[in-house]
Amino acid sequence: MPTSSLIVLDAVCKRYETAAGPVSVLRDIDLAVGTGESVAIMGPSGSGKSTLMNILGCLDVASSGRYLLDGQDVAGLDHDQRAHLRNRVIGFVFQGFNLLPRISLLDNVALPLLYASVPERERRRRAQESLQRVGLGGFEAYLPSRVSGGQQQRVAIARALVSGPRLILADEPTGNLDTQTSHEIMTLFMGLNAADGITLVLVTHEQDIADFTHRHVLLVDGRIAADHLLGEATAARVSP
Ligand SMILES: Nc1ncnc2c1ncn2[C@@H]1O[C@H](COP(=O)(O)OP(=O)(O)O)[C@@H](O)[C@H]1O
Ligand SMILES: [Mg+2]
Repeated sequence: MPTSSLIVLDAVCKRYETAAGPVSVLRDIDLAVGTGESVAIMGPSGSGKSTLMNILGCLDVASSGRYLLDGQDVAGLDHDQRAHLRNRVIGFVFQGFNLLPRISLLDNVALPLLYASVPERERRRRAQESLQRVGLGGFEAYLPSRVSGGQQQRVAIARALVSGPRLILADEPTGNLDTQTSHEIMTLFMGLNAADGITLVLVTHEQDIADFTHRHVLLVDGRIAADHLLGEATAARVSP
């Protein structure tokens, strides 16, 4: 296990109590992800991908096992400390772009900074810089409805970037996009990974999307069924 692991899961299980009895959704997950890696989590519907992402994102906690994020044992933190760790380390991108429809793209991107009480001038500067990073300089004043789905996802990525995360978690980020737009979004993600060293963990059920990343983890029935590091040839294809 590399010492620079940003994520370490050790025998993580997740169980839900349902009317029909307990259901095991994640079973004995061991996973270490080093800083700068790009990982695609794949697997059939219901295999536990989103549950795993919610645990990685400190939005949910494991029933048993240990999760270290950036060296901190997440189970040992209270609600506020978990939120603080999450805001410091992680940017989230979802399948639906989750932009607020009535405020500008700039204000959407700046929103996480508002919650973090960053002064307004600084918020605007950083949101503008973030929009430029995703190729949307000049679109600051637009409302979300005026731009395409691919551009809305870029705005969501800019919003994830605005707090300076070391880790981006993306659950089916291209699920609502056509193939060409999906590939453009993946090229953007891989550029952030290569140039800025942002660790990327994404969920997809599409092989062509997973092929952009250098590591594929397959979940089946809540267990890791395969964990493949891809060769240099594949990695080189996505490097600038
Ligand atoms: N709150 C919950 N209570 C009970 N079962 C749940 C809950 N959340 C998810 N599940 C079950 O856990 C399994 C995995 O769900 P999920 O992580 O969303 O899978 P995936 O993202 O791979 O499609 C599914 O069978 C789902 O029905
Ligand atoms: Mg899911």
